[in-house]
Amino acid sequence: MSDVVRVESLKSDLGVSRTVSLPRQELEEGWVRAEIERVALSTNNMTYAVYGDALGYWNLFPAVDADHGCIPVWGFAHVTESRVAEIAEGTRVFGYFPLSNELVMQPTGITTRSFVDGAAHRTGTPKVYNIYEIKPEPASPRSDSFVSIFRPLFIASYTAADFLRERNYFGAGQIVISSASSKTAYGVAHCIADDTSAVKIGLTSARNLDFVRQIGCYDQVVEYGDLASIDLGVPTLYVDLAADPELRHRVHEHFGDDLVYDCLVGSTQGVQLPDPAAPDETLSGPQPEFFFAAMQVDAYKAAGQARAFMERYERDELTFTERVADLGNPWMRLEEHDGLSAAPSVIAQLHDGTVDPAVGHIFEIRPAGAGG
Ligand SMILES: NC(=O)c1ccc[n+]([C@@H]2O[C@H](COP(=O)([O-])OP(=O)(O)OC[C@H]3O[C@@H](n4cnc5c(N)ncnc54)[C@H](OP(=O)(O)O)[C@@H]3O)[C@@H](O)[C@H]2O)c1
Repeated sequence: MSDVVRVESLKSDLGVSRTVSLPRQELEEGWVRAEIERVALSTNNMTYAVYGDALGYWNLFPAVDADHGCIPVWGFAHVTESRVAEIAEGTRVFGYFPLSNELVMQPTGITTRSFVDGAAHRTGTPKVYNIYEIKPEPASPRSDSFVSIFRPLFIASYTAADFLRERNYFGAGQIVISSASSKTAYGVAHCIADDTSAVKIGLTSARNLDFVRQIGCYDQVVEYGDLASIDLGVPTLYVDLAADPELRHRVHEHFGDDLVYDCLVGSTQGVQLPDPAAPDETLSGPQPEFFFAAMQVDAYKAAGQARAFMERYERDELTFTERVADLGNPWMRLEEHDGLSAAPSVIAQLHDGTVDPAVGHIFEIRPAGAGG
């Protein structure tokens, strides 16, 4: 039996990762072994790592030593060994994995559509991170790659757009979106593109200005340093993907009383998030309000609309990914790495912000359809 290979990152310096080799665990009754097929890495995964201790992400896939953590990633796997009567070998799942070639799970809450890994160390984290959706074989490995990258990101873009639209954009005539080159940010811009009630302005770094202009989904593109050039006197909504405190202060100061809402969706800069219990008295205007995709999805569930929401979502996600991949002017091209050997270097680039926004990183660990 071959070893388990896993990439672990140093908690005190997320740019430093190592590959460890571990013996395979014997399966106990009630456990399954999933061989991981294909996973994606983007800044979103680094955000999980930044809040690994604060929000419990490090507990999901315990590392060998306490000073290291396994960065969680989304992707596909096949169950290759099962000691659970309801889960057949060969079952394909989509969910949350370590950067590894396998994961041993203890399925609970098994239905024909999904199960939950009920391992004791995972019980403290929200269900969304412990649920594995059972999937048919893929239309193509390429479609799996797009789902691995965009399912966790576009659901945030989509639900944030829903949330803001339902509130009439808080009356805004312009919407300023930071870290505009990020996939989650341009997903928001795509979702509200047809809504002409507000001008969409992408805020980005000098390095990514050309990329953001070229994708063409914002009405205006402004470099962080030129924030002061954005029109005043227009009710303005800030959709913050960067969470940069210095930028937040500049945004609040520039727009003053015209800032109608500060929607904090992401944290690409990997900084400490504001404490909702301790408002920042030095900040003029509205305090940032956290937005979590899971809360919006929960609201649909509570209203008995979960199934209808997911049907609408999956249809619109497909339209979005087709646009992203459009050969005439692709917003992103896939870089599919064979195995995990390139993962430490991609993690280092994501950590220091040098990753090319036009690239989507995929790690193909076990070829789809390979025998167990
Ligand atoms: N609230 C939710 O429910 C939810 C759900 C999904 C994702 N998110 C968040 O959305 C954010 C974007 O994730 P993503 O995967 O879409 O990002 P991505 O596509 O990998 O974004 C890359 C961009 O982020 C900025 N960036 C990345 N690393 C940086 C660094 N070290 N220093 C400075 N800037 C850096 C740069 O944009 P600029 O040059 O344009 O600034 C870069 O082009 C993440 O923080 C993620 O956690 C939130």
